[in-house]
Amino acid sequence: MTPLRIGIIGCGNIGARIHLPTWLAHPEVAQVVALADPTEVALDSARQLAGLAPEQVHADPVHLIARDDVDVVDICTPQHLRREVLLNSAVSGKHILCEKPLAAVPLDAAAAVDAAEDAGQTLAMVHNYLWLPEIQAAREVIDSGEIGPVRTIVVNYLGVVDVPGAAAYRAGWRHEAVSSGGGVLMDMVHGVYLAETLLGRPVRRVSAYVSSREASATVEDLALCRFETDANAALVNIAWGLGPGGIEVTGELGRVSVRYRDGGTAPWAPVEHVRVHTASGMREVLGPDEREMTGIPQPIMDSFEQVLLDFADAVRTGRPAAAPGRDGLRILEATVGAYKSAVTGELVGIPLDRDDPVFRHGVLGLKKLSLPEWSPARGTSLYSAG
Ligand SMILES: NC(=O)c1ccc[n+]([C@@H]2O[C@H](COP(=O)([O-])OP(=O)(O)OC[C@H]3O[C@@H](n4cnc5c(N)ncnc54)[C@H](O)[C@@H]3O)[C@@H](O)[C@H]2O)c1
Repeated sequence: MTPLRIGIIGCGNIGARIHLPTWLAHPEVAQVVALADPTEVALDSARQLAGLAPEQVHADPVHLIARDDVDVVDICTPQHLRREVLLNSAVSGKHILCEKPLAAVPLDAAAAVDAAEDAGQTLAMVHNYLWLPEIQAAREVIDSGEIGPVRTIVVNYLGVVDVPGAAAYRAGWRHEAVSSGGGVLMDMVHGVYLAETLLGRPVRRVSAYVSSREASATVEDLALCRFETDANAALVNIAWGLGPGGIEVTGELGRVSVRYRDGGTAPWAPVEHVRVHTASGMREVLGPDEREMTGIPQPIMDSFEQVLLDFADAVRTGRPAAAPGRDGLRILEATVGAYKSAVTGELVGIPLDRDDPVFRHGVLGLKKLSLPEWSPARGTSLYSAG
């Protein structure tokens, strides 16, 4: 089997500390042949780790995408920088693995999905929480029919750690609406795709509430959302701070409960248990993870390994990846739709209307909407360009 030749674009925390070493650990599957990042210090340290020559690394991703020896572009830049990289990669005949969220703006994400489909290339998302052992365990129980049809999911990620961006680049980019495309909900979009996966159906409508403790903030630090499908619904609550975590799946015949240590939030708190409760009693399907979660938690490293190997297999066999680009687009629309609901009070239909300002501009389109008196985005800096 000839290894896939990978070019990584964006050598920050996720590109250089997770994707790069994970690809390097699987030389039979992949060979990293090029890197791109405009931040010199990041590019040089990633180059040394990868053992590449100076001519294999580029300040401008355009030069990486133009290389004939790259089969796969692995995109790890902040999300507002993705449009040109995604489109160039697709038209240049590259397969694409893209970090979440697919873009900051749905219009850009939709253009990328269409371009990859037109070019016949694989475009897949890093929706790595799908591979966490507690999520796999919950899905197995659901798929077995033991708890019956799923009625509701509650995802609590209210204790999310506010991880800064790379200091050598811009530590604060996650808190700037213009670069992040949203606050903690966008950053922890994992909660949205997990909820949809556990519901087992596509999201059709969303309503939400957002707030921020800082008066000058341009993004929220708390989001409470309700995502509805045609048959069931999920509550997804996400915040930077010290609130509780955990996931509850309620079916017609029972429930699955995912609890993290001391009621904390994954992945910073390890799994305490996954339990199934039915009329016949309780059984534990996953016990406590006793490992210390210092640095990058091991279950997270393992989840990335699964994503990268699944993607490589999808490219080789032509089958869909576990999370195709079209899933990334729908989840982005549901997330941006939550912002629209939170500032207008509307129940927002998904997919978004293609002419909707939030489809075309993401959160920066929110101020163009008719906002009620009480709207958190009215007369404030929330969701402004800063
Ligand atoms: N799947 C996950 O669990 C997970 C975890 C963390 C981050 N992420 C995602 O990964 C992406 C990057 O996050 P991060 O934490 O690595 O950010 P970071 O700030 O640590 O790194 C960003 C890097 O991108 C580089 N960059 C900036 N402009 C560029 C350009 N035009 N071309 C190439 N590189 C460019 C910067 O120089 C920097 O090195 C984000 O979209 C984030 O949502 C995903």
